[in-house]
Amino acid sequence: MPLCVLEDIRKSYKMGDADIEVLRGIDLQVEKGEFLAIMGTSGSGKTTLMNIIGCLDVPTSGRYLLADKEVSRLSDDELSLIRNEHIGFVFQNFYLLPYATVLENVLLPSLYVEKRRDNFEKKAVELLQTVGLKERMKFKPPQLSGGEQQRVAIARALINEPDLLLTDEPTGQLDSKTAVEIMGLLVEMNKNGKTVIVITHDPNIAAYAGRTVRISDGVIIQ
Ligand SMILES: Nc1ncnc2c1ncn2[C@@H]1O[C@H](COP(=O)(O)OP(=O)(O)OP(=O)(O)O)[C@@H](O)[C@H]1O
Ligand SMILES: [Mg+2]
Repeated sequence: MPLCVLEDIRKSYKMGDADIEVLRGIDLQVEKGEFLAIMGTSGSGKTTLMNIIGCLDVPTSGRYLLADKEVSRLSDDELSLIRNEHIGFVFQNFYLLPYATVLENVLLPSLYVEKRRDNFEKKAVELLQTVGLKERMKFKPPQLSGGEQQRVAIARALINEPDLLLTDEPTGQLDSKTAVEIMGLLVEMNKNGKTVIVITHDPNIAAYAGRTVRISDGVIIQ
């Protein structure tokens, strides 16, 4: 069963009088439980595509079905609900709150969910255990290494039990050994049933995925 279905997705930006089409007709299906890599050179449209897949932005035209629901034409508020329920994000720059503890950072996405708080605390501690940082729970992000910060970001991405883990250059700031650890963690999450999409320009990172699609100049070429 597909989790994401993209049909003829286009995205253009107005530059003065001209429309610049950055995505030029993307057709893509992502199956539930898949580990997909999206590769392409700088400027090819990877982040633009990720923003659409992640419901951070809407396409100019085309259809996007996420978990059987059409999300291509939703308002910002509707998109943020869908995002919170279905998608966990991991970015190159971690984006942790520097003055909040590791535990508070992991709990952050759960603040928007109406369920009992103590359940989330328990879950957050379990996730920190999974990523090997339970002992660092009371630390603040600046006291952690880059790899540790990214592991916190992965735990945070999973707190709401999303269907999809969407990662944009998750190892871009990390040395190659730490990158291997982070990719190992994503592989583990995928084995546990999470659908994972990793966006990268690095073939060594794409090699962890079960399938790779290549984007060039706003179209999928392979
Ligand atoms: N908000 C915007 N307004 C105008 N043009 C944009 C906007 N966002 C992206 N673009 C253009 O779209 C193209 C694709 O950008 P995108 O960020 O998707 O590339 P990318 O594949 O993620 O590159 P990188 O590997 O460098 O991160 C670029 O030429 C960029 O200048
Ligand atoms: Mg990018």
